[in-house]
Amino acid sequence: MARQNTFSKGTEKIFFFREFLRNWRAVGSVMPSSRFLASAMLKSIDFDHAKLLVEFGPGSGSITRRLLARMRPDAHLIVFETSEDFCKTLKALGDPRLEVYRTSALSATDVVRAGSADCVFSGIPLANLSSRERALLVRTAKKLLTPHGVFIQFQYSLDSYKDMKAAFTDVDLGFTFLNAPPAFVYRCRQTLDAAQKMSCV
Ligand SMILES: C[S@@+](CC[C@H](N)C(=O)[O-])C[C@H]1O[C@@H](n2cnc3c(N)ncnc32)[C@H](O)[C@@H]1O
Repeated sequence: MARQNTFSKGTEKIFFFREFLRNWRAVGSVMPSSRFLASAMLKSIDFDHAKLLVEFGPGSGSITRRLLARMRPDAHLIVFETSEDFCKTLKALGDPRLEVYRTSALSATDVVRAGSADCVFSGIPLANLSSRERALLVRTAKKLLTPHGVFIQFQYSLDSYKDMKAAFTDVDLGFTFLNAPPAFVYRCRQTLDAAQKMSCV
């Protein structure tokens, strides 16, 4: 049986902070996302139908655990995380629906078939990436998605709004005050325009 959490109370924050001290640029925040931010990330996902979910930068698993709790028994979650210790913790969840890759999300297309993911979630600190890496990350997420799929990314500023608008036709914004620090949530989709719809019939 899969475990809901591998941490006793309070130890997740200490573990996360230690990883931040080791590699502040990649980790990008001093503590894991709050349950409020995690709920905002999961809002409006159709868990009854989602079969393949992908997460970039799951860290200690604050969003991952909530995804697993909501996912169908036959759904799959593929996560890409660069920290070895975070990967060990995620594997220790012992959920057969979860596949953990200790590799950069920027090479996710080597693992996940293009056009197959219902949702891509990301907590990667975009502000610490170069503009080339940022554009590649957004392009990679878009490539993995089904035509109706959604890319959901949080950020502590609105710096990347223009990157999202450049890649997706629909970008909805959410905001969660109850997180340290407060965070914006981008929900990005591609909608077929009228001309494309006509050519599909
Ligand atoms: C801000 S933390 C978010 C952790 C978790 N998603 C949360 O919300 O608490 C960013 C995470 O992204 C990971 N990361 C950074 N760059 C990455 C990359 N290129 N590929 C995969 N993971 C990456 C870091 O190791 C860290 O775990």
